[in-house]
Amino acid sequence: MDDHQFRRLLDHLGLSWTGYRKVRKGVKKRVSRHMLALNCSNMAGYLHEIDKSKEALDECERLMTVSISRFFRDKKLWDLLSDEMLPGLIEQHPEKILVWSAGCACGEEVYSLKILWDALEPSDARLPELDITATDMNPTTLERARNGIYPASSLKEVPEELRARYFHPEDGGKDFRIKESLKKGLHWRAHNLLAGTLESQFQIIFMRNNLLTYYHDEKKRVALKNVLRCLGAGGFLIIGSHETLPSEVSELHDYGSLSYIFQKQESAGSSTFSASG
Ligand SMILES: C[S@@+](CC[C@H](N)C(=O)[O-])C[C@H]1O[C@@H](n2cnc3c(N)ncnc32)[C@H](O)[C@@H]1O
Repeated sequence: MDDHQFRRLLDHLGLSWTGYRKVRKGVKKRVSRHMLALNCSNMAGYLHEIDKSKEALDECERLMTVSISRFFRDKKLWDLLSDEMLPGLIEQHPEKILVWSAGCACGEEVYSLKILWDALEPSDARLPELDITATDMNPTTLERARNGIYPASSLKEVPEELRARYFHPEDGGKDFRIKESLKKGLHWRAHNLLAGTLESQFQIIFMRNNLLTYYHDEKKRVALKNVLRCLGAGGFLIIGSHETLPSEVSELHDYGSLSYIFQKQESAGSSTFSASG
């Protein structure tokens, strides 16, 4: 499949060439296999096929997902979370803190948070309950997340002390299994960010390195609306360190020195988009 054909597919699906450019080799390979399985010899035939069959479209969209991640990706974020954001939230929400990892891939971000949480040592009080909902549209990555086994390369930013405490080496150190106790309080769920929202009001939503990178603007807006609807007042939205929000998003303000953390205004209503959005 050449780039011209690939770009046709991206446009058809509302996906962004800028986002996919660097990762296109592997994605093209997966889609080419799917084209072969459907007996499609060219892109026009394939687009026709995915338009007429929901099953073929679902499979194509699953094959287009990119699950690259690693533990403690963007170290500055995790430092700020443990030094400032989590202690503040613990004070404000002493009973329960609700977190959503939207587009969680194989769970690296989710378990990173659990490790941080576990490592917090409250000096005088008990910690609130930490309740994490982790969603992804790709059931294969969710299954991997549930299993919690990772290649050593995913752990390259995990400090040695935490690696020893929270992971068990398997297969001679080729893979690492997450400590079983970290799986408590996690709800893994298949969910497409374009299809609807969740019921809760979360104190933190991670929405990193997925729709803001890989989607066209129109789809970003749809998904963002769904996501921001369930960010509680005063809650944090964390996006990828190379991502930006569409300019018309209102009722969020920058938080701290990192350009990819936002906080919802305390008095924010239900709409987080300005009239033009
Ligand atoms: C590159 S990974 C990012 C993982 C993690 N958030 C991080 O930053 O390390 C992107 C994930 O987003 C998921 N994703 C992409 N579009 C989605 C959508 N519309 N709804 C739900 N998940 C989506 C993909 O399946 C993939 O697992």
